[in-house]
Amino acid sequence: MKIAPSLLAADFLNLGNEIEKINASEADFLHLDVMDGVFVPNISFGFPVLEGVARACSKPLDVHMMTVEPEKWISHVRGLGAAVMNVHQEACLHLYSTVQHIHEAGMMAGVTLNPATPVETLTDIIEDLDLVLLMSVEPGFGGQPFIMHTLDKVRKLKSLRNASGSRALIEVDGGVNADTGALLANAGADILVAGSYVFRSEDMNASILKLKEL
Ligand code: DX5
Ligand code: ZN
Repeated sequence: MKIAPSLLAADFLNLGNEIEKINASEADFLHLDVMDGVFVPNISFGFPVLEGVARACSKPLDVHMMTVEPEKWISHVRGLGAAVMNVHQEACLHLYSTVQHIHEAGMMAGVTLNPATPVETLTDIIEDLDLVLLMSVEPGFGGQPFIMHTLDKVRKLKSLRNASGSRALIEVDGGVNADTGALLANAGADILVAGSYVFRSEDMNASILKLKEL
C-alpha cells in the first residue's frame, strides 16, 4: 500500500519540523489540500505557503485542489514540482481538457469524486486518468468519520478500471486509520491519504508503516 500523509493535520507552528519527519519517514507522497472557501466551506493554505513546503519536502507532492475552476491553478501546481494534481469532477465543466492540460504540464492527472458522486461518471475518461481519488468524507475538514459506502465505490471503480484497461491508481481520502485502512486494502485501494491518523500519532513513522503493511 502506498501512503500519502495529509499536511492539513500537521502542526502549522512547526511546519518545518513536520516536513522533516515526513522526509525521514516511509511515506510515498505528501498530500496537500488546497481550499478556496467556495468549493468547500473552509480555507487551508495557499501557494505562498506551499512554495515553502515544496522546497523543504523531498517526497513527491500529491496536490488535492478543492477549489472552483481548478484549471486556473495548473501552472501554479506545476511550479511546485508536484507529481500529481487532483481536480474534483464536480468542479470541472470541461474535465477532458483539464486532464489534458495537467498532462501537458508534465504531471499525473487525478480526478476526485465527492462521496455522493458515482464512479460511473468516469466511464468515458478513465482511460486518460493516472489516478482517481475517492473522498470517504465530505471534503473540507480533517478528522471526520469514514463513510463505509466508500468500500463499495472502491470495488466498483476497480472493476471499471480493469474493464477499460486503464491503469489509474485508486486513492482514498478521509477518515483513514488502521481499521478503515484494512477494509480499503481489502476492497482494492492503491494509495491511502491519512491526516489525523498520521500527524496526531506519537510515532508518525510507525503509523505510516502500519498503513503501508496493509
Ligand atoms: C479533507 C481532506 C483530507 C483530510 C483528511 O477535505 O481532503 O485530505 O486532510 O484528514 P483525515 O485523515 O483526518 O480524515
Ligand atoms: Zn485531501
